[in-house]
Amino acid sequence: MKHKQKIVVLSGAGISAESGIKTFRDADGLWEGHDVMEVATPQGFAKNPELVLNFYNQRRKQLLHVKPNKAHIALVDLERHFNISVVTQNVDDLHERAGSSNVIHIHGELLKVRSSVNVDAVLEWKKDLFLGDLCENGHQLRPHIVWFGEEVPLLTKAAELVQNADIVIIIGTSMQVYPAAGLVNYAQHGTPIYFVDPKPSIQKSDFENLTIIPETAVNGMPILVASLMDKIV
Ligand code: APR
Repeated sequence: MKHKQKIVVLSGAGISAESGIKTFRDADGLWEGHDVMEVATPQGFAKNPELVLNFYNQRRKQLLHVKPNKAHIALVDLERHFNISVVTQNVDDLHERAGSSNVIHIHGELLKVRSSVNVDAVLEWKKDLFLGDLCENGHQLRPHIVWFGEEVPLLTKAAELVQNADIVIIIGTSMQVYPAAGLVNYAQHGTPIYFVDPKPSIQKSDFENLTIIPETAVNGMPILVASLMDKIV
């Protein structure tokens, strides 16, 4: 059997937009009516934990009612021909539900919670989370989300994947949040990079071997798949 080329997919909120989950920066600068700093920082949590828990409870409930879309599924189909790793900024589980085999969530996961003291005490969690829900050591549980200003523990692993990629695909991210936005720079010189986003935030001249597909994820993935298949025939 032929050796499969390694593709690393860097996905952001845009890939889940057509499943019905709002992106962060598209509409009014608010995230479901909230200032991101209020609901996505340790300071916001310290100031008003109830509001923050409630915010993620709503996001978790919403997640249980949406489904992966054709873009998530297209990435699963590509596994027949390529060795695919998905590095997502998304906290939803739509890549996994679509069937992707290798997914890492650099910004955490909505369906997990963790001790607010011990980063490694992580639990699966599908219901609402309240003040008073404690880990086994008696500490308040919090969403397993990497907030602004916090460390990104999976960054090194993600960077290594990109460094070893034969092809990089970026889908639906505004490339504004670091360090995630910098991951593409770990690609080896000349690696083909594809960017699927209806409002692309990078330009052709930003990378040596960049193809921009200025479409939504669902419309752009078939174009991308056709182009990738051409390359393996
Ligand atoms: N298909 C593909 N891309 C889309 C679609 C779509 N249907 N709709 C919107 N987009 C694109 C937008 O053009 C934009 O470039 O998705 C991107 C969404 O950008 P952001 O809202 O900034 O989302 P993202 O880049 O994932 O945000 C990064 O910010 O708040 C933090 O931690 C949070 O992981 C998140 C990070």
